[in-house]
Amino acid sequence: MSDHIAPITGKDTIARWLAHPAGSPIIREFLAAMSQGQDSKDLDNVTGKIQNLPLNALVELSQGKLTQDAVDELVRQANGGVIPEESNAGASSARFTGKTVIVTGAGSGIGKATAEQIIAEGGRVVAVDISAERLNQLAKEAPEGSVATVTGDITNDADIESIVKAAGERIDGLANVAGIMDGMLPLHEVDNDSWERVMAVNVTGTFKLSRAVVSAMLETGGGSVVNVASEASLRGNAAGTAYTTSKHAVIGLTKSAAFLYGPNNIRTNAVAPGPTATGIEGDFKSEFGQKRLGPFMALIPPVTTAEVLAKSITWLLSDDSENINGQVLASDGGWSAQ
Ligand SMILES: NC(=O)c1ccc[n+]([C@@H]2O[C@H](COP(=O)([O-])OP(=O)(O)OC[C@H]3O[C@@H](n4cnc5c(N)ncnc54)[C@H](O)[C@@H]3O)[C@@H](O)[C@H]2O)c1
Repeated sequence: MSDHIAPITGKDTIARWLAHPAGSPIIREFLAAMSQGQDSKDLDNVTGKIQNLPLNALVELSQGKLTQDAVDELVRQANGGVIPEESNAGASSARFTGKTVIVTGAGSGIGKATAEQIIAEGGRVVAVDISAERLNQLAKEAPEGSVATVTGDITNDADIESIVKAAGERIDGLANVAGIMDGMLPLHEVDNDSWERVMAVNVTGTFKLSRAVVSAMLETGGGSVVNVASEASLRGNAAGTAYTTSKHAVIGLTKSAAFLYGPNNIRTNAVAPGPTATGIEGDFKSEFGQKRLGPFMALIPPVTTAEVLAKSITWLLSDDSENINGQVLASDGGWSAQ
């Protein structure tokens, strides 16, 4: 087994067993043996219904047909002859051990904090940004082997290919964090270039990378995608027209993917940050925009840090949120309650 394949235990769900490189053949053989006599369609049906249950739960559900010893034996077979240690404390402090997660916008702000949190919890990050300099800084501070950097633009097809290639044989998570602002321009002042660039990065780039990663996840049996939306995904008075439109589109992308691929064990959720101290440009480039939006900006909750946003994003990336799909988590200090 490679260093980056997470151990699998009786606490893991059937779906995770089915997606696990070593666990998959073992659980398939086991399920087939358990349901001898049934045709393969029936077997798929039953498997579909129980896929979100931990393997251990089958001991009780089978009313003695399956013993705990038999489950332990499956766990041993899937982990090279040993039963991995299961500690709850360990599980919550190292949720990404053995996992590979792609993070865009990883050179700065929320993306960088997300990458660092994943690395701190044992994961390997494919860090993507247009700035090589910022990525080098991230790599310099991270333990060896924990980061693969890809300098590239998520709107560029060749760069998308390089990102997926850098991830290797398995992608467990994708955090689409890269995004740009729009100078708070109101509709009648938006020039074509700003509209196209904002839509290209925030929507088209997020779509292109998601398309490539979801295709890979369909092959490997699942994963978790988190799209960074914005308070501007939820209301009309948080930014200019192009940014607001683009971030509403991110929610559409999230919900469509969540619905389409839920049955394939691919969860897609969004985090909508409120004001966060990062390198993003938040200046008003329009007097009209400032006059109309300014008074509302005075009411928003205090600014938070990128590390706080990383906690929301990594929760949705991790198995801690295993029952959550298609949701928009406002991580905004309560702004959306106004
Ligand atoms: N900071 C906030 O208050 C706030 C609020 C709501 C939403 N957001 C969203 O959070 C996300 C992260 O923003 P941040 O505040 O950390 O900004 P940031 O500017 O600090 O970081 C964004 C990073 O993305 C990179 N990037 C930009 N375009 C790219 C592209 N085409 N391809 C690859 N990388 C690219 C930049 O080089 C930068 O390093 C964005 O999607 C933003 O819209 C931020």
